[in-house]
Amino acid sequence: MERRKFLEFSSLGLSAITFSSFKSSSPIRKPIVISTWDAGIEANKTAWKILSIGGSALDAVEKGVMVTESSQNCCVGLGANPDRDGFVTLDASIMDHQFNCGSVAFLERIKHPISVARRVMEKTPHVMLVGEGAQQFAVAEGFPLESDKLSNDAKKAYENWLKKSEYNPIINIERTKGNNAFAPPKLETGEWNHDTIGMVAMDANGNLSGSCTTSGMGFKMRGRVGDSPIIGAGLFVDNEVGAATATGQGEDVIRICGSHLVVEFMRQGLNPEMACKKAVERIIKAKGVEKSKQIQVGFIAINKQGDYGGYCIQKGFNFAVCYAEEKNFLVDGKFIL
Ligand code: GLY
Repeated sequence: MERRKFLEFSSLGLSAITFSSFKSSSPIRKPIVISTWDAGIEANKTAWKILSIGGSALDAVEKGVMVTESSQNCCVGLGANPDRDGFVTLDASIMDHQFNCGSVAFLERIKHPISVARRVMEKTPHVMLVGEGAQQFAVAEGFPLESDKLSNDAKKAYENWLKKSEYNPIINIERTKGNNAFAPPKLETGEWNHDTIGMVAMDANGNLSGSCTTSGMGFKMRGRVGDSPIIGAGLFVDNEVGAATATGQGEDVIRICGSHLVVEFMRQGLNPEMACKKAVERIIKAKGVEKSKQIQVGFIAINKQGDYGGYCIQKGFNFAVCYAEEKNFLVDGKFIL
């Protein structure tokens, strides 16, 4: 009996090993672009225009997220919620297929932090510029200094927040306060808290790139920087393996080097969805279940086959997937808690 069980087990094990040892024979799905949240649909459209005519993944992920940065109705870019002192501060990062990367953090009054991040990557020997120095660099590169006036929505949200001034910054939990329903939160009450767009793409040549841009947590402490501009946390690309990006509570993504971890799980043979799931599990293990219920983190990833996937801590996260003009759709992220 024991011997029979052993033989059954080993034959199953053997077939699993054999199966995963061979490369999939299905054709590579490329080009492809995926991005976080529903704003990703519009961003993907712009990225797709570039990818579909043979443009580079790097151009696609920059131009794609610029759409969201320009949107005054979204919580990315200068239209977004300010910090608790009333100033919008922006973080962004970009990475190409050759481990080149650039990022900016705590950047004020610049409309397209993602493009400044790309300039840091392409025109300096550095990876990251922050604050006043990042702004100086942007202006020297010809980026106009915008007004520091808040958008109408952000002004309303900030005024509302000031009434209590409670320091309780949370992001991306799609739960309307009080009723536990997963209805979309309302911007005017400061509940609309999508903070980030992260995008990863593979172009027709099979090269990967990624971008990530955010205003961070609404009403955050001045100077607070999240995961989005940190290479390996908010974004990571390894052209041999895949690309991943993150959204949600940045501190918890930084703690586990989230996007790098997702890529490493893919290197070990997991598909993008399972790799994202394992990274989410790591956060929950580090933080504990009860505390993890208070936050949201979502990861999305693609591999070199053009497989895609995402996973999050709790219900409410979605991401946009595009691999043809008529195939640009939202996927609900699977969740653990
Ligand atoms: N994930 C964005 C942030 O924490 O700032």
